[in-house]
Amino acid sequence: MQSSFKQIVEEIVAMHHSLLRKELPRITELIDGLADSCPESESLSEAQQIYRKVRSKIETHLKDEETVLFPTGIALETGGEIPHSEIDLRARLEEMEKEHDGCSNALALISQTVSTVAKSEQREKLLDAIQVVQDDLRIHVEKENTQVHPRFIELLGSTRV
Ligand SMILES: [Fe+2]
Ligand SMILES: [Fe+2]
Repeated sequence: MQSSFKQIVEEIVAMHHSLLRKELPRITELIDGLADSCPESESLSEAQQIYRKVRSKIETHLKDEETVLFPTGIALETGGEIPHSEIDLRARLEEMEKEHDGCSNALALISQTVSTVAKSEQREKLLDAIQVVQDDLRIHVEKENTQVHPRFIELLGSTRV
């Protein structure tokens, strides 16, 4: 039997959003620690700044999914009350797919930049943490792009939400 929209998104939140909420602050600690130990490294401070922006982009993205997109899809599927929002959902969905690519690319760039710094235990820990997020993000994004978003568009149908 095909999973419901509700089942798919609840699984995404439990598996992938929770991983990000655990790992993103850890990466901040690791990257800040490494930057403090190499204050002369311009590329590291650049990576630190990019990471700060990516983290806040991801956190807003998760919040929009959990408070608007997912509950709206569930309400459309079950006939429940649709949460009120000023967001243009179709436009936000397109933007979200761009953010999926943007975040993956930014993490790859950060990891590449960090790799240019002298090898240390701290650097390896940071690279491993970024890798964990990149690997999980790949699965997370694939599920959203191929299952959640098309199902959501279908549920939206001709409604004027
Ligand atoms: Fe998500
Ligand atoms: Fe997403």
